[in-house]
Amino acid sequence: MNFVLLEKRDKIAIIRINRPDKLNALSPEVLDELEKAVKEVSEDKEILSAIITGTGKAFVAGADIGYIKTLDEEGGYRMALKGQEVFSAIENSPKVFIAAVNGYALGGGCELALACDFIIASENAVFGQPEVNLGIMPGWGATQRLVRKVGMNWAKYLILTGERIDAKTAYHIGLVQKVVNHDNLMDEAINIANLVAEKGPLALRLSKEAINKAFDLGDFGFRYEALLFGKTVGSKDKEEGINAFFEKRKPNFFK
Ligand code: COA
Repeated sequence: MNFVLLEKRDKIAIIRINRPDKLNALSPEVLDELEKAVKEVSEDKEILSAIITGTGKAFVAGADIGYIKTLDEEGGYRMALKGQEVFSAIENSPKVFIAAVNGYALGGGCELALACDFIIASENAVFGQPEVNLGIMPGWGATQRLVRKVGMNWAKYLILTGERIDAKTAYHIGLVQKVVNHDNLMDEAINIANLVAEKGPLALRLSKEAINKAFDLGDFGFRYEALLFGKTVGSKDKEEGINAFFEKRKPNFFK
């Protein structure tokens, strides 16, 4: 892989989009490599959490505008479906994905961060959905995920004005969970990834699954939560986690 670097460190993985000369713009090749990296992480029994970040001054400055220029309506539709599939694989992965946003997260870059479970941002980060400036609209999930994550008013504001917002504003609207000093971004993201990776794997996977269904299931969401809760209570991880609590030691969870 050239455009996406995958590093594994014990229970965590770091996926780095690596096309700095084009501000990590997601061409079809980059997207294919990202898809492979996400699949590998999702299938790796040792890994519990993964960080996605970018090389250089951008996280990802969007889909590749030069590629979009070549597309007709059918091509645009197919491009949207492909990116949506890759980002849904992140959202639905059994692993916890953390976006460590180091700079520009625009268009498809903001949508990539939205597909992650939460976002840690450098104070230099810039978010936005500038597609309308190009006469197009978001196609990799922003019209759905932004509404779910920050509410309809902010989703409309960002998508309809194309305005960029800084990390502080992104934190203020709930898009970003933590803003950190630029030089500490990866250390902070790794600390949080490790914090997650200490937890019970089944509990992480089923919690994420229940949360992801929150907007789809209506009142049945509570019943679904109860069913998954039961699974965790019947698990070996529960035995270990609760025994460790009473024995005042760290739990040693199962894979
Ligand atoms: N697709 C393709 N190439 C891109 C790109 C994208 N989304 N974003 C940046 N690049 C390329 C530039 O064309 C430039 O290439 P060049 O050196 O061959 O000319 C290189 O990356 C550096 O970008 P540049 O614009 O010179 O950097 P900057 O610091 O002046 O501006 C941005 C940074 C992010 C503000 C600006 O690049 C930008 O607006 N990018 C597009 C963002 C966007 O609209 N994304 C949604 C796309 S649907």
